[in-house]
Amino acid sequence: METILSFQNVNAGYGRVQILNDLTFEVKKGEVYGVIGPNGCGKTTMFNALIGLIIPTQGTITFDGHNVTKVNASTRCRMGIGRTYQVPRPFEGMSVFENVLVAAVHGAGHSEKDGARIALDALKLTELYDKREIRAGELTLLDRKRMEIARALGTEPKLLLLDEVAAGLTEAEVQDVMKMVANLKAAGYSIIWIEHVIQTMVESTDTLMCMAEGHNLIVGNPVEVMNSKLVEDVYLGVEEDE
Ligand SMILES: Nc1ncnc2c1ncn2[C@@H]1O[C@H](COP(=O)(O)OP(=O)(O)OP(=O)(O)O)[C@@H](O)[C@H]1O
Ligand SMILES: [Mg+2]
Repeated sequence: METILSFQNVNAGYGRVQILNDLTFEVKKGEVYGVIGPNGCGKTTMFNALIGLIIPTQGTITFDGHNVTKVNASTRCRMGIGRTYQVPRPFEGMSVFENVLVAAVHGAGHSEKDGARIALDALKLTELYDKREIRAGELTLLDRKRMEIARALGTEPKLLLLDEVAAGLTEAEVQDVMKMVANLKAAGYSIIWIEHVIQTMVESTDTLMCMAEGHNLIVGNPVEVMNSKLVEDVYLGVEEDE
């Protein structure tokens, strides 16, 4: 399988504080790649480095055959890297459709006409089409999560980044999110999914990486990773935030 993304020996952080520590991993085209790891180990920071919010001090990030290590965030978005935020920031007073349209037009630089078509497709894929005229502020938590994903899809990503989209949901709602991710995979998206619920990760991902202290502790088959002593040790005595 072709590679869509690789991190090679990446160091990155905030100011002088280094968080990512010689981080190396590789995502194949079309796979769902799960990322777990204790609070503060650098999962969201990895996304920040991937979208260009922070620039590595060492190492190389290659996306879709291009070295993007120093490419700015808006260019990376247009190249096909689309993210959701761990803390969503919707425009509450705007409709669901308008929220997704903004991502398509201002995030990805599409014309209004193309943006509208792309936004409606994204709303169908996330099962929000019937709620497209509702104000974003009135959505349930599950539908807000759907809209977050739809906004990321509005930028027409090749690689979709999901940061704890299942956090705070009931078990039944998590099942809905898992179904949605499976549909997105079937539609051809490559996906990196950060989540704390390990069982969800084992059921939904093709490859699973556990991070610890900014590096790749272990990566491989999800069941093997979940059962590994390394992962058990790193979570031992650590409270999950969910
Ligand atoms: N903007 C920032 N400025 C300075 N330090 C930050 C910033 N954002 C995160 N950090 C620090 O970087 C470290 C890694 O944070 P990060 O958000 O990547 O962890 P995480 O693995 O996503 O954790 P969680 O599971 O809680 O979401 C933490 O110590 C955090 O306090
Ligand atoms: Mg995080």
